[in-house]
Amino acid sequence: EDGKKELYYQINKEAAIFYLKAFCQTSNPGLTYMLKRGIQPVTLKKFGIGYADGQWDSLYRHFMDKKVDVKLLQELGLVSESKGRYYDKFRNRVMFPIINTRGKVIGFGGRAIDDASPKYLNSPESPVFLKKNNLYGLNLSRQDISKENCAILVEGYMDVISLYQSGIRHVGASLGTALTESQAKMLRRYTKNVILSYDADSAGQAAALRGIDILFKEDCRPKVLHVTDGKDPDEFVKKHGKEAFKTLVDNALGFVDYKFSMLRQRYNLDSYEESVDFLKEAAAVLRSLSPIEADVYIKKLASEIKISENAIRLEINGNTTQ
Ligand code: CTP
Ligand code: MN
Ligand code: MN
Ligand code: MN
Ligand code: MN
Repeated sequence: EDGKKELYYQINKEAAIFYLKAFCQTSNPGLTYMLKRGIQPVTLKKFGIGYADGQWDSLYRHFMDKKVDVKLLQELGLVSESKGRYYDKFRNRVMFPIINTRGKVIGFGGRAIDDASPKYLNSPESPVFLKKNNLYGLNLSRQDISKENCAILVEGYMDVISLYQSGIRHVGASLGTALTESQAKMLRRYTKNVILSYDADSAGQAAALRGIDILFKEDCRPKVLHVTDGKDPDEFVKKHGKEAFKTLVDNALGFVDYKFSMLRQRYNLDSYEESVDFLKEAAAVLRSLSPIEADVYIKKLASEIKISENAIRLEINGNTTQ
């Protein structure tokens, strides 16, 4: 079985090299696009960024010359068949190889250069690519994550690459999908301290709330960072630089404060009834904490809502008689 996997890895690596060679040709649209987005050659090289050209079957023909079984190419999502003809899945896209912590190319993300849809095309799941088990960038960043005792988790390829280039190297991305239990377990091997730094839209906020719970279950201590300008960490760090992003990191909200801030948006705390509902939900959050951890929040809540600490403690300790 492992021998079969090795074959898939080899094919993916060969494809990555093929895309890399195209990316190194002078004035190819992929390189032009990435330079325009402010990514420097040294960073492009570090991440092995490539270019899938606009031809229908250049990668397919490359592998046919090497006598590779087309079935394997199809399984890896590199080639598709239509009406008896084979064609390349990735065309005219910037190629991001997804590399696991053992250094194997397990799949690709391809970003459209023009306004082609979808914006990102990703390898399908395959015998070597299980999306839920991987974090983009971890192959480069795990030592930094250990050293900093902190991981910054972002949504996308470009967020990882831009932060890394700016000198913030303890980063990884779940690639648009919701954080999984298995990804949280992976991170936990390097650190407890995970800072969710998702896009500044409602989808990003919702993903942060879900991410918090998954990380907490895996014994992590999540925080949430909010970019104050730009759509995502990539845009922010390009505009404001490393030090400004570090300030955001320093100001990231602990997960309890983040949950409370989200709750506050849903309830009008000038209304007595709504304050009670707010407190019930807040108590549910505190129930998951140890008494010592909960204590400081109980004090804060009591003074904010003007209710006795004791009442909050009763609510937390399963006052379920109503
Ligand atoms: N994504 C995807 N397919 C899409 C859109 C997004 O797989 N059609 C994934 C990609 O991994 C992407 C991440 O979700 O990096 C976050 O999506 P989005 O914020 O829309 O993209 P950005 O990473 O910001 O990409 P860019 O800056 O290039 O527009
Ligand atoms: Mn091609
Ligand atoms: Mn997004
Ligand atoms: Mn972006
Ligand atoms: Mn984004």
